[in-house]
Amino acid sequence: MNIQENFSLKNHNTFGVDVSAKYFAEVSSLEELIETIKFSKTHSLAILFLGGGSNILFTQDFEGIVIQLHLKGIEEEYLNENEVLVTSKAGENWHEFVLFCLNKNYGGLENLSLIPGNVGTSPMQNIGAYGTEIKDTFVNCKVLNLETLEVEKFDHQKCNFGYRESVFKREGKGKYVILEVTFKLTRKNHVIKTDYGAIKSELQDLGIENPTIQEVSKAVISIRQSKLPNPKVIGNAGSFFKNPSIPTDQFLIVREKHPEMPNYPQGDLVKIPAGWLIEQCGWKGKQIGNVASHELQALVIVNKTGKATGREIYDFSAMIIDSVYQKFGIALEREVNIK
Ligand code: EPU
Repeated sequence: MNIQENFSLKNHNTFGVDVSAKYFAEVSSLEELIETIKFSKTHSLAILFLGGGSNILFTQDFEGIVIQLHLKGIEEEYLNENEVLVTSKAGENWHEFVLFCLNKNYGGLENLSLIPGNVGTSPMQNIGAYGTEIKDTFVNCKVLNLETLEVEKFDHQKCNFGYRESVFKREGKGKYVILEVTFKLTRKNHVIKTDYGAIKSELQDLGIENPTIQEVSKAVISIRQSKLPNPKVIGNAGSFFKNPSIPTDQFLIVREKHPEMPNYPQGDLVKIPAGWLIEQCGWKGKQIGNVASHELQALVIVNKTGKATGREIYDFSAMIIDSVYQKFGIALEREVNIK
């Protein structure tokens, strides 16, 4: 067990915020993980598990121990000639895992290409993009119960997935750490999902009519690269807010004043793109100090100069929430975890 003290987290969060952790440990096996948790409990240290650091905003130094999971490995089990179970340990990089599956011609994750982060954090917020969420292919995950230190299995139902939500963000918050995730993917007769507008037009531009899963992945990569900033170049955590869903009655009232408002009815609720609301309030591309709303996608907040503090980013997001509420009466909710 190698525990470092006063460790800078600047390279361990995609916002590139310069904060430190009192202690930091990298663990590569379940045994090492359990040993580190026992050590932390003995010393009454608050624990924070970090994957790729792609969905977190640190607003201050962390006074406990940050544990980074380096559990690696991918296993495959053929179910039949059509389907395969693929299990990835938590510490695998998400996009590399997607590429591994595409190389083997396993279908189901191609629309989720290039999402930052690690496999182990993907179920927490049920990552999603371009008409697909991981809940569509998720079978189960193994977790470590932090109280009993026993390994448990969570099936689909127990994960209770929602839009950018799961049991791990609600009742199970802080109680488990995800060790590995199993997906059921197709080996042939892939289900190609190109309904999401941008994919269709991207494939058309490429002159592709009946795309393979590899081509869908290429289209997704190209769309993401064209409007989402690369965290390696400019600090960000993807969408900072969730797209709000409001009751239909409320929507009808707001629409009277804003008839051009894009909307996606879902049962009794209507989903409104937060990026549109933010852009309408004049935030798109706007910079205050070191922080800005991305010029190509208003929903993404960026560490524009690379020198922003977490507090500055948080305050910037509070200003956005405030002005969207003033103009539309709609309360935006942060998607990114605040620490
Ligand atoms: N829009 C604007 N202005 C903007 C941005 C968006 O008007 O600056 C409007 C447009 O009407 C556009 C609509 O919002 O048609 C939707 O925009 P986009 O397709 O970019 O998707 P999104 O709803 O803003 C969501 C996810 C993204 C995911 C994309 C594609 C959330 C919170 N975000 O964004 O996920 O990549 O769909 O599926 O649901 C992430 O979670 O970090 C993330 C990047």
